Amino acid sequence: MSMAFPFLLTEEELQQFDMMTFANTLDCAAALDQQDPLLKYRDAFMHPIENNRERTYFLGNSLGLQPKKTMYSIQQVLKQWQQDGVESFFKGDDNWLTYHRKLTNPLAAITGALPHEITVMNQLTVNIHLMMVSFYRPEGRRKKILIESKAFPSDQYAVSSFVRHMGFNPDEIVVEINRDAEGVPPTNRQVIDAIHQYGNDLAMVFLGGVNYYTGQLFDLYSIATASREVGAVVGFDLAHAVGNVKLNLHDWDVDFACWCSYKYLNGGPGAIAGVFIHEKHHLSEINRLEGWWGVKQDERFLMKRNFISSGDATSWQLSTSPILLFACLHASLQIFEDAGWNNLLSKQQKMIEWTDFLLASIPNNVFKRITPQLRGCQISLQFQKNGKEVYKRLFDQGFMIDWREPDVIRFAPVPLYNSYTEIWHFFNSLREITNELTLND
Ligand SMILES: Cc1ncc(COP(=O)(O)O)c(C=O)c1O
Repeated sequence: MSMAFPFLLTEEELQQFDMMTFANTLDCAAALDQQDPLLKYRDAFMHPIENNRERTYFLGNSLGLQPKKTMYSIQQVLKQWQQDGVESFFKGDDNWLTYHRKLTNPLAAITGALPHEITVMNQLTVNIHLMMVSFYRPEGRRKKILIESKAFPSDQYAVSSFVRHMGFNPDEIVVEINRDAEGVPPTNRQVIDAIHQYGNDLAMVFLGGVNYYTGQLFDLYSIATASREVGAVVGFDLAHAVGNVKLNLHDWDVDFACWCSYKYLNGGPGAIAGVFIHEKHHLSEINRLEGWWGVKQDERFLMKRNFISSGDATSWQLSTSPILLFACLHASLQIFEDAGWNNLLSKQQKMIEWTDFLLASIPNNVFKRITPQLRGCQISLQFQKNGKEVYKRLFDQGFMIDWREPDVIRFAPVPLYNSYTEIWHFFNSLREITNELTLND
């Protein structure tokens, strides 16, 4: 039996937990699991195994688990290729020419977008560059780009190199907002203040929706609103936000957003990435790098000299769709659709409360929680000492979490495939290990 479900409670035992107030016991964890209508989806995923023992995977923030359906989904495409060759692009309901719609519809639900505002293409850093082409439009004194300190390095490289490519000096253009001298990401208030402070100098605001290091969730609506107020374009890197937190990109009037699909979306290593482009830009005279896959579908194979835009977000596509990658993401998005996005968000909220409750039971002189209250699945703990040792011991006990130099453990239980019991075991082990190391100090 796996560590996730050590035993089942009887009806009477379950009754005790009906009016759920949390208790720091395995019984309480088991009751939460038994009352969880989404628990069955845990079984839709392949959980890593070592020495015949299932490991506890808390790394949805890094590489989401493989859905059991992924293999089948890939095989379907391979079979089409075998049987029909290039005809597969056009044949039947599962034709490859319209395969992307199987992805854009569920992604629209997850991101709060209209389906034609989403396209699936390339990978995240490539897409950031493509969005810079379209949305970084310096004019007069309005040239600056606001990013957060401790943005993911690839975002910093992309923005700086793009600015250099435009002939500017990144030191004069890219403004990083810090919370303090240690380079901790700014609070939401500090972002808004910075937007107003730079005002007419600001061409673009580009932030990670959830910070990869601290797990901090920004209030994207208020940031989008403030950006619009000062006349700046606003875009988000949603690598750590998509499939993790509630988004409403269309109504928030975000200009663009991009994300990778290998974290909370479980699309597999190097999965096909996603882009949101607000519909107000689809028919505008916007600068865009073009390729034949962005041409209107029924004109694409006419091989005309002139680019005829598809008129929606798919006009940013450059190259032939990588259907095998689409198949991987499709397998996972089917589970999202089946489970229901709002149901997943409700479970996540409860998991957050459970996690916060258990975390509060550990003396806080051992580590500092650097994740603010507003967050998704991830919690980051910063250790004053012994951090690496704590990480190693947890890992040896079967918990798959990650270590970020110099002193941070990140862990992210996800509603699709983690249980309340797994979370309880994690904190129980964390308490035991930190107690022991403190006593031996
Ligand atoms: C926030 C963020 N931005 C950008 C990237 C880079 O993504 P890719 O390697 O898919 O371009 C990552 C990768 O984990 C990330 O977490």
